[in-house]
Amino acid sequence: MIEQPMVRFENVSKRYGSLTVLDGLDLEIKRGEKVSIIGPSGSGKTTVLRMLMTLETINDGVIWVEGEPLTHMQRNGKLVPADINHIRKIRAKIGMVFQSFNLFPHMTAMANCIEAPITVLGMKRADAEARAADLLEMVGLGQKKGHYPSQLSGGQQQRVAIARALAMRPKIMLFDEVTSALDPELVGEVLEVIRKLGREHDLTMFMVTHQMGFAKEFSDRVCFFHAGKICEQGPPKELFGAPKNERTQQFLRAVLEAG
Ligand SMILES: Nc1ncnc2c1ncn2[C@@H]1O[C@H](COP(=O)(O)OP(=O)(O)OP(=O)(O)O)[C@@H](O)[C@H]1O
Ligand SMILES: [Mg+2]
Repeated sequence: MIEQPMVRFENVSKRYGSLTVLDGLDLEIKRGEKVSIIGPSGSGKTTVLRMLMTLETINDGVIWVEGEPLTHMQRNGKLVPADINHIRKIRAKIGMVFQSFNLFPHMTAMANCIEAPITVLGMKRADAEARAADLLEMVGLGQKKGHYPSQLSGGQQQRVAIARALAMRPKIMLFDEVTSALDPELVGEVLEVIRKLGREHDLTMFMVTHQMGFAKEFSDRVCFFHAGKICEQGPPKELFGAPKNERTQQFLRAVLEAG
């Protein structure tokens, strides 16, 4: 049997009014694969992740997760719009970390990490706390469990956000420029946590990043987005080392010049 891709975008389009943000996107991500998206501002990178997270509706096409349609259900051999229970079931496989941390400000690091496991997964508090403690330890914040977001640095907050997403036991993790809002000296500690996740966990990872060095070293595949389409994709060595498309070449030159 051929293994189902973890995620498949099939001819997916997204429009806001007359603006086409994604234009018939086709993309498959294998189980355990690490895929990075790079590309100019406004090219639709965040939109791709938000659609997968069901934070945006789609206008055309189907997104499949482990062979099941995300926003549709199969009924009598036809695809019909999914009901909320179906969407919840599928999106429980997906966790997301945003550029701007998005922690609950009135909750400690620990409380941030146990809230959804208790209320959404129905975990017992003691179990949720034990798991959250392990995850906070894993991201290097074992000593900061009782701290509120305002008492943590940006890099620490982002690591709590990663632990919080993992507490829901996702199979797929989405990262949207998770280091862009950080002071440069805090970027490394967050990237190190992502590296560790990649090494030690069987996660499928799909990330938007401006960190070309990280994308090159970490990804199995890099997709260059332009105007709502994948303009070029390939293993990082090829895409960074010998980009074929003129737009990719221009983008990489501009990024390198900007340092
Ligand atoms: N809610 C919305 N309403 C209208 N237009 C939107 C909305 N969200 C995004 N857009 C538009 O869709 C396009 C793609 O946005 P998106 O956020 O996906 O870009 P991006 O590639 O992530 O850019 P950046 O690198 O700046 O984060 C942009 O032109 C943006 O203005
Ligand atoms: Mg974006």
